[in-house]
Amino acid sequence: MITMKRCALVLGASGGLGGAMVAEFLNDPAIDKVFAVSSKQNTTDLSGGHSQSKLVWLQSEYNETAMADTVSHLMPFAGMFSRVCICHGLLHSDKLWPEKRLEDINSNALQDIFQSNAVVPALWLKVLFKVLKGQVPCIVATMSARVGSVSDNHLGGWYAYRASKSALNMILKTAAIEYARRAKNVKFIAFHPGTTDTPLSKPFQATVPTGKLFTPEFVAERLAIIMDSAKLDGELAYLDWDGQSIAW
Ligand SMILES: NC(=O)c1ccc[n+]([C@@H]2O[C@H](COP(=O)([O-])OP(=O)(O)OC[C@H]3O[C@@H](n4cnc5c(N)ncnc54)[C@H](OP(=O)(O)O)[C@@H]3O)[C@@H](O)[C@H]2O)c1
Repeated sequence: MITMKRCALVLGASGGLGGAMVAEFLNDPAIDKVFAVSSKQNTTDLSGGHSQSKLVWLQSEYNETAMADTVSHLMPFAGMFSRVCICHGLLHSDKLWPEKRLEDINSNALQDIFQSNAVVPALWLKVLFKVLKGQVPCIVATMSARVGSVSDNHLGGWYAYRASKSALNMILKTAAIEYARRAKNVKFIAFHPGTTDTPLSKPFQATVPTGKLFTPEFVAERLAIIMDSAKLDGELAYLDWDGQSIAW
């Protein structure tokens, strides 16, 4: 009897949450191979003592040509992906900072944040279609954020980040509708990890209540459990780390 391989794919694998998802999938005996895609080289041992041959690290730029080329390396495993995690995200850098008021809105910052938070995930959904379509149930979780919820916005501020996550959610919803028609084996989750100790949240951790700053490992474990229980219903689920639905 031929046992079909199960593969996992992590996009944006060098980040705090991306790295934790790679480690989570490497430790999952139900997964035979983990593909990690990053703009950076792999410098850390994520294997936790497991066979390094289980991990395939692919370096890629995030333009459509380079991404399509990266996907060509996945084609021999088309139809075998059961888990995909899209982990890209940008909130601040040496050139940009979340806006506190209207006067802080800046065209370049808006474009940079939309590019990493919404455009790059959208391009992955396009170029990965032929790799994900098949018979194997495939759960695609994308790192969104609660601040992308329009109804949950009571504080204001963070224009670009909030809007990019709302845009991401709409892209995921639209893709869920199309995949439900063309690739019924794929289920989408827009995931809010909660405030997690990574470089992205570092400057904002001082005000986080005790016990509410999660480790990436805890969040990865939570997301793996949520992905395990996801149903192929053709819908986009918008869920937090506790598996609770978030209002749009
Ligand atoms: N940490 C939190 O508290 C928190 C809370 C809510 C939501 N999130 C979301 O969780 C996701 C992961 O964030 P993190 O906390 O792990 O942050 P992180 O450690 O700073 O990781 C950043 C991630 O974004 C990718 N990235 C950075 N600049 C990019 C660009 N210009 N274009 C495309 N990709 C780029 C990196 O990919 P490479 O592998 O190529 O470096 C990496 O995967 C983000 O979507 C974030 O918005 C995080």
